[in-house]
Amino acid sequence: MKYLRHCGLVLLALALAVPAASARKTVIPVETEHTALILSVRENGVLETLHYGNRIADPKAFGGFVTGLSEDNGSGPMAYPTTGGRYLGEPALHVRYADGYHNTELVYAAHQVRRNGDVVTTEITLKDPVTLLEVKLFYEAYQKEDVISTHAEIRNGGRQPVELLNYASGSLYLDADQYHLTHFHGGWADEMQMDGEVLTHDTKVIESRRGTQVTQCNNPSFLVSLNADRLQENVGEVVAGALAWSGNFRLSFEMDESNRLNVLAGISPFASAYKLAAGQTFATPDFLYTFSGRGAGQASRNLHAWARNFGVYGGGQINPTLLNSWEGAYFTFTTETLLRMIDDAASMGLEMFVLDDGWFAKDYPRNGDDAGLGDWEVNTAKIPEGIDFVASYAHDKGLKFGIWIEPEMVNPQSNLAHAHPDWVVQSPGRELYQSRNQWVLDLSNPAVQDFVYGIFDKTMQLAPNIDYIKWDCNRTVADFGSKYLGKDQDRFFVEYAQGIYNVMRRLRTKYPDTIVQCCSSGGGRVDYGALKYFNEIWTSDNTDAFTRAYIQYATNLIYPACVMASHVSAVPNHQTGNVTPLKFRFDMACSGRLGMELQPKNLTERERALADRCIRSYKQYRDLVFTGDVYRLASPYEGDYYALMYVSQDQSRAVVYTYCLKYQNRAVGAHVFRLDGLDPARSYRVTELNVDRSCWWGSGRTHAGDFLMNGGFNPVLLKTFDSAVFYLEAE
Ligand code: GLA
Repeated sequence: MKYLRHCGLVLLALALAVPAASARKTVIPVETEHTALILSVRENGVLETLHYGNRIADPKAFGGFVTGLSEDNGSGPMAYPTTGGRYLGEPALHVRYADGYHNTELVYAAHQVRRNGDVVTTEITLKDPVTLLEVKLFYEAYQKEDVISTHAEIRNGGRQPVELLNYASGSLYLDADQYHLTHFHGGWADEMQMDGEVLTHDTKVIESRRGTQVTQCNNPSFLVSLNADRLQENVGEVVAGALAWSGNFRLSFEMDESNRLNVLAGISPFASAYKLAAGQTFATPDFLYTFSGRGAGQASRNLHAWARNFGVYGGGQINPTLLNSWEGAYFTFTTETLLRMIDDAASMGLEMFVLDDGWFAKDYPRNGDDAGLGDWEVNTAKIPEGIDFVASYAHDKGLKFGIWIEPEMVNPQSNLAHAHPDWVVQSPGRELYQSRNQWVLDLSNPAVQDFVYGIFDKTMQLAPNIDYIKWDCNRTVADFGSKYLGKDQDRFFVEYAQGIYNVMRRLRTKYPDTIVQCCSSGGGRVDYGALKYFNEIWTSDNTDAFTRAYIQYATNLIYPACVMASHVSAVPNHQTGNVTPLKFRFDMACSGRLGMELQPKNLTERERALADRCIRSYKQYRDLVFTGDVYRLASPYEGDYYALMYVSQDQSRAVVYTYCLKYQNRAVGAHVFRLDGLDPARSYRVTELNVDRSCWWGSGRTHAGDFLMNGGFNPVLLKTFDSAVFYLEAE
C-alpha cells in the first residue's frame, strides 16, 4: 500500500534513540518552505503536536512549551492518539489485544530524517513497552509545495494476534478559537457540493461506507478555516487536507475541552476490524495536508502543485481533447455511426475519439445496461469490422483512440455471471441486490484481480494503439461479503480497495503511457489514492454547464484542473432540463480538460463554427489549465457569478473565465471582477476568446496588471448564462 517512492534516500540525521525518560521536549520539526508541523516528546515519552502553521525560524523555541492540559486532565495533543492511558477522545489507533484489553500507550523510541530532492521524510518510531505494539509515523514534507503527507505503519511486535479497530493515517491537532469546516457532499450528477459549518464541541464525522463509488456522497477531503466563521478565498488561515484512499474512509473533527481541534483521517473502521498476526505490519494510506496563511486560494494552489508534481499519474502532462460517444450515441450505434463521429471530431480539431459503453458482449449483447457486463468480447453484430478497424480509422484521421470498460462489475445476464457466481460480492443465503442491473465483482479475491487485469490487458490488444481507457464503476456495494475471504469478512472493504491498487500497479508496469480516466458514474471515485494511477477523473455525469459551475468550483478546491474532464453536451441533456447557450457550455468545459459528448452532426453551421473556434484557441492556451496556478475570482456558492483564472508560473500568461449564473439586477450593470495572480508591474495584452459577440471594451488592448487587479475588469454579462473567456499575455 505504501510504495517506496523515494529510493536512494540520503541520511541526514539518524536515530536519536534517547531513552524516553530523558527525552524532555525533544523538538521534531517537520518543515516545508513556509510551514511547519512541530512535534515534541514530552517528559513521559508521549509524542505531541505543538504547532501546525507558519514556519518558525527557530523550532527549538518550543523547548519549554506547555500544551495546556494537566497530567490529570488528559494526555495533551498526542501526535497519534491511541485508546488507552488517559486518552478518551477519538483515537487514531484503537487496538484490541488477544486478552481482550484495549489499552495502547505509545512512547517515543527514535526518529530519523532523510532527504530526497525536495522531499524530506521524518520517520518517528513509537512503542508500547507493555504490549510491544510498534508504530512508525512517516511525515513527508514537500518543500516547495508546502504539503505534508503522513501515514503510519503499525506492527504487532507481540506474540499473540491483535485486532486493529481504528487505524487512522494520521492526526492533526489545530489550535484556534473557532473552526469552520468545509467538506463536500452530493449524489449522482451532483457530486462535490460544498457544505460547511462552524464546528462546535465534540465530534463531526465525514464518512463513506459504500465500498465502491465511495466519493459519490462524500469526498475524503476538507478545508478548515481557523478563527473564522466561513471559508475565505484570499485571507485567513486555512488547513486543507485529503486522504489518498479509494475505499471506505472516515474523517473526524473533534473539538476538545481546550478548544483544540483534532483532525483524524483514515480508512473507515466500519465492519473492518483488521487482524494483525504476530510480527505483521499494516501500512495506512497517506493523509496529506497543507497550511495557508492566505485563504483557500493558496491552500488549493499548494495541493494542486503537489498533485501535479507527485500526486497524479502523469501530472503536468497535457491530455488530449476528445469526442466521447456516450451522450451522442448511447447504446445505439453501428460502425458507420462511429466513423461519422470520428470524421466530425477530426474536422472540428479534436484530438481523440472515445468509444463508450455498448461495444461488447455477444451472447448477451450490451444494447442496454441490463446485459453483457463481464463478457468483454466485441459485439460483431454492431461492429463487424472489429475495434481495430475503428481505431485505425481514427488514427488515420490523426486522432487518438480510447475505449470504455467497466471491469469491476457483472450483469446477471452474462456468461461471466453464470461461470463464476462465487466471484460476486455477496453474503450467503440472500438474494443479491441489483443496482443498474448489475452486481459487483469481489476484488478482494486475487483470481478476480487477475480477471480484471486481464480485461484491461485484452482490451488493449483489440487494436495496436489504444491510447486511452475510460475505467468505469457504476454501483456501490450492498450486502457486502466475500466467498473468498471465508470467516475473515472484516478484511473485505480494505482488501477490495487494495485489490484495485494491485491491479492498477500491474497495469501501470505494462502500460505506463496509456491515459486512463477514473470514472464511477461520474465523480464516484475522486481521491488522491486513485489518482496515483489514473490521469484524470470524469468529474460528473452531469454535463449541464450550470450545474458544472458548482461541481467544478468545489472539485478544484482540492483537485487540480488538469484532472477535471469537462465535456460539452447537447441541451437539454438527460441530467437536467437546463438549456444553456453553446458558448456558455464551451466556456465552462474549457476550464478543465475539454471534451465533447454529443452528436456533432446535430450542430448548426453557426454552432460548428463556434465549436471550431473554441477548440482551436483552447489548444493554444491549455497548458495554463494543465500547469497554471488557479485564482478564483467569484464563487458560484456566494453570488450570481462564477469566475476563475489560471496563471502561468512566471506570471507572463493567463486565461480568465467569467460566467453569469443568474442575472437579476439590471441596475447593477456589468459585474466587476478583480483579476489576481498577475504581476501588477507588468502590462498584459487582453484578447477575448470563444467570441460570440464581444463582451469587454478593453479586449484587444494592453492594460497594466495593476489596473486589471485593482480597477474594473467588467465584461458585459447581462443575461443569465452569459459568459466570456480572455487570454492575457505580458508585453
Ligand atoms: C456511467 C458513466 C458515463 C457512461 C455510462 C455508460 O454512467 O459515468 O459517462 O460511460 O456509464 O454506461
